[in-house]
Amino acid sequence: MTALGSPSLEPDPAHPGLRFRRPEERDHARVVGVIPAWWALPGTANLGLLLPRLFLQHFADTSTVVEDGDGDLAAFLVGFRSASRPGVAYIHFVGVRPDLRATGLARTLYERFFAAMRASGCHRVGAITGPGNAASQRFHRAMGFESSGDTEIEGVLAWRDYDGPGEHRVVFARPL
Ligand SMILES: CC(C)(COP(=O)(O)OP(=O)(O)OC[C@H]1O[C@@H](n2cnc3c(N)ncnc32)[C@H](O)[C@@H]1OP(=O)(O)O)[C@@H](O)C(=O)NCCC(=O)NCCS
Repeated sequence: MTALGSPSLEPDPAHPGLRFRRPEERDHARVVGVIPAWWALPGTANLGLLLPRLFLQHFADTSTVVEDGDGDLAAFLVGFRSASRPGVAYIHFVGVRPDLRATGLARTLYERFFAAMRASGCHRVGAITGPGNAASQRFHRAMGFESSGDTEIEGVLAWRDYDGPGEHRVVFARPL
């Protein structure tokens, strides 16, 4: 952590008022703090537990936070290159503040991540979501991902007990 804070990344012409930068460990509390309101789905009150501090300690170089002109959190993406499958990248979390949605911000975060992962030699990217998160499923399909699963759960194909008993997941993948 530096006294000056993390330097800005390349700005995005489509989002002129927003600042892109790498997360720092001290961003953890506010990133986790927005998750219940930004996800706003039944059963997601403790979703922040899936984003422990270690992600901002060890995956900051491949993750991004976005702030508005007041320094308030506008969006974030937490992703990384697989340690065990070096050709594969993974997006663990993405969130966009509700008032900034449908402006292409998540697309911008994904495309920047894709470009960086391609440059580091990755040829595939994955992500997962819950069967009840229809918006995330539509977003991932719009971003070129294909989904897989073994059972129809809540009307969608998902892998039963993927992350433990009752923790079903829709698995997404696409080439880079
Ligand atoms: C899912 C989420 C990240 C999308 O963010 P966003 O900034 O609104 O998405 P974008 O504006 O960049 O949209 C990108 C594409 O996805 C599509 N899309 C995004 N959300 C969609 C939705 N709810 N329904 C249908 N399509 C959607 C857009 O139409 C767009 O397609 P196009 O570029 O072909 O026109 C945002 O709704 C969010 O933060 N949701 C809560 C957190 C969450 O569920 N995260 C994902 C699981 S980790």
